[in-house]
Amino acid sequence: MAKPSVFVTRRWPQAVEARLLENYDAVLNTGDVPLTPVEFREALRKYDAVLPTVTDRLGADALDVSGARTRILANYGVGYSHICEPSARHLGMTVTNTPDVLSECTADLAMTLLLMVARRAGEGEREVRAGNWTGWRPTHLVGTKVSGKTLGIVGFGRIGQEMARRAHHGFGMKILVQNRSRVAPEVLARCNATQVEGIDEMLPQCDFVSLHCPGGAANRHLINARRLDLMKPDAYLINTARGEVIDEVALTQSLMFGTIGGAALDVFDGEPRINPDLLHCDNLVMLPHLGSATREAREAMGFRVLDNLGDFFSGRDPRDRVI
Ligand code: DGY
Repeated sequence: MAKPSVFVTRRWPQAVEARLLENYDAVLNTGDVPLTPVEFREALRKYDAVLPTVTDRLGADALDVSGARTRILANYGVGYSHICEPSARHLGMTVTNTPDVLSECTADLAMTLLLMVARRAGEGEREVRAGNWTGWRPTHLVGTKVSGKTLGIVGFGRIGQEMARRAHHGFGMKILVQNRSRVAPEVLARCNATQVEGIDEMLPQCDFVSLHCPGGAANRHLINARRLDLMKPDAYLINTARGEVIDEVALTQSLMFGTIGGAALDVFDGEPRINPDLLHCDNLVMLPHLGSATREAREAMGFRVLDNLGDFFSGRDPRDRVI
């Protein structure tokens, strides 16, 4: 029997590509650059499966295709707000993602950002590299203590829970949780967390706020000017979720006028384009979407895509089906 044909939109870890090529009639985007909507539509007409990732904009235009052959979009990544859900449903496509396998690494990076911004590590690194360090002094780059402070977590899925575990057990932080559904008491108990009713109630109580909710239209600008004003003037905002969750214009104002202490972002609205005003904010740490960027997580994500494909082409419901 002919192997299913699959198209991979970006380069993947070598071991995963090798396994993919053994089991499928696979075509790799060797140029490793994002596809245009026209190229997407061509791929959807040509292959049984398309394997996109978070940088692929699979909006209504890219999915506006007649005679599609593709029956599954097996996404490499946990977030799938870049795939237009109504269009995928309209085309009768199955969509899968890769949860769990990147949760620890993404939480590690959120904790890294939290520590960097609290301890002004980004500013210090820039100073040393620029040759501007003049030596130790009691008032130099003084940050804020992390241990024992209050961390508010927005979105208590797997990554949010891993973040809470690190913050509570590693740093004795008090954990507040805001989540769209009720969190089971035993899950909260693991890190002595308290669920609060709404984000507006939580923000004024936090020294740090870390975002772990999904992106997409529903959460666009969840953190807006009004909510930034609810934060303490010395509180810090961390985002490893999706760029669009924060209104970056409002954030820039808060950082410049010091209405919050600082922010640390791994994701940006419209990335890799960066709002140029953000570059002028010293109290901001910026990383290029590195949440899951470890050898271990990136391989595990690829193998998880292969598990989903295996399920699908064997007639089983894929374990990570989201649409
Ligand atoms: C995801 O998986 O959604 C991340 O943003 C990239 O790992």
